[in-house]
Amino acid sequence: MEQKALASDSVAPETATVPRTPFDRIGGHAALRRLTDTFYDLMHSDPAYRELRAMHAPDLAPMRESLALFLAGWSGGPRDWFDRNPGKCMMSMHAPFPITTQTAAQWSHAMRRAIAAADIADREVADAFAETLTRMALGMARG
Ligand code: HEM
Repeated sequence: MEQKALASDSVAPETATVPRTPFDRIGGHAALRRLTDTFYDLMHSDPAYRELRAMHAPDLAPMRESLALFLAGWSGGPRDWFDRNPGKCMMSMHAPFPITTQTAAQWSHAMRRAIAAADIADREVADAFAETLTRMALGMARG
């Protein structure tokens, strides 16, 4: 009895706190949706991303939803995209697309601009998103 009380007393309040996920820190679904909307707006309207835009379907609406949901699960939030796409891997899913260093650089450039425009208060997590997504995009290039 006494031992049990001692064991629970020994858990310091700060160690019992669940760490916030990158999903929470970036601002949750609202921030990710803002970010992906800006990303596809830029891709669609800025001629600097012409080749990247041409690879995508004319209607970008499904992509806005898909990318926001993917990023949510990827960053520790709700895993809807992963539940709907069991076993789907982002790198192998892109293998059929002829991704070059040019289109990968366009993707990461537009993504960095979208992250900067999304007005994310936590700069550390915003920078981590920008760096990691850039590395992923450049890792998809094969020519
Ligand atoms: C390297 C540059 C990239 C290019 C050129 C590219 C291109 C594409 C294309 C052409 C599609 C199909 C779109 C359509 O059917 O209209 C697609 C789908 C998708 N891409 Fe990328 N992509 C790149 C990087 C990335 C990265 C780094 C991520 C994630 C971090 C990503 C996430 C997605 C998602 C979530 C989908 C939709 C998957 C689904 O739900 O079916 N892409 N991408």
